[in-house]
Amino acid sequence: PLISMREMLDHAAENGYGIPAFNVNNLEQVQAVMTAADEVGAPVILQASAGARKYAGEPFIKHLIQAAAEMFPHIPLVMHQDHGTTPDICQGALNLGFGSVMMDGSLLGDGKTPSSFEYNVDVTQQVVAMAHRIGATVEGELGCLGNLETGEAGEEDGIGAEGKLDHSQMLTDPEEAAVFVKATQLDALAIAIGTSHGAYKFSRPPTGDILSIQRVKEIHARIPNTHLVMHGSSSVPQELLAMINQYGGKMKETYGVPVEEIQEAIKYGVRKVNIDTDIRLAMTGAVRKFLAENPDKFDAREWLKPAREAAKQVCKARYLQFGCEGQG
Ligand code: G3H
Ligand code: 13P
Ligand code: NA
Ligand code: ZN
Repeated sequence: PLISMREMLDHAAENGYGIPAFNVNNLEQVQAVMTAADEVGAPVILQASAGARKYAGEPFIKHLIQAAAEMFPHIPLVMHQDHGTTPDICQGALNLGFGSVMMDGSLLGDGKTPSSFEYNVDVTQQVVAMAHRIGATVEGELGCLGNLETGEAGEEDGIGAEGKLDHSQMLTDPEEAAVFVKATQLDALAIAIGTSHGAYKFSRPPTGDILSIQRVKEIHARIPNTHLVMHGSSSVPQELLAMINQYGGKMKETYGVPVEEIQEAIKYGVRKVNIDTDIRLAMTGAVRKFLAENPDKFDAREWLKPAREAAKQVCKARYLQFGCEGQG
């Protein structure tokens, strides 16, 4: 059934596991996440970005997620809005039936310009007030996702700062985090530790200077009762890049967030781990391979099936790696 995000994250904290939150935009992605969770007994967070709502149309997003709840009534399921950039957008999601919203006040309403701490507190407080009134959960964000070596936020068309970021903006300050949580009373806090959205996170396998699990520990030590969220947490598996490139793709060398680093972060308060890119890579690789090997096929179901299966394998792996087995 659809349940509250707060309840799901509290359970994860009590039992020491993390939940991958997968971005969904269409039927096959929803099916991939649900069947993976069903096979391992995991709880599910389905999250839709503003881009997903635009791509599919709000009624489709709403009913795809409700269809998932209907088809898998035994699976605890959260319907979450990813990266709301204004209180109005969050209100729209709550009106649509989302039980959880992210108010990303780390950027202004354009989703590109880093905001002030005061602005972030103000918009997050507004969303907490509107959401808590109806029992919905709020995720906020403090700090800017970005590459600690280059100052680049990554992802050009998604959510991310435009222009170069300062080193300190890209690492959430533990003391500020404590003030932020106290002032806003939010349910979960997304933090910046060197990850960024999209496939191009790191130009080399990340070491502690560019992916700071140490910072997660410092934040957790300061606010041990706050559920932490990691964005930009795709692992960008090398075998998926290789598959894409083997069948005509042209992806450049790149590295993601190693699963072991996420597992370490889960020991220190990280309860929600956002993953979109890994599903994109898996589906693209599978479609490229299928069409390359079957040039005579033209039934969309035939190439969507391997794409859906590849996405499912990624989801299942993350559920197992983050300790979700049997927790749903
Ligand atoms: O926040 C970034 C997620 O990967 C969503 O991406 O805005 O292209 O749907 P999107
Ligand atoms: P990835 O691009 O690493 O999958 O991150 C997704 C995300 O953080 C969505 O909010
Ligand atoms: Na941010
Ligand atoms: Zn994100």
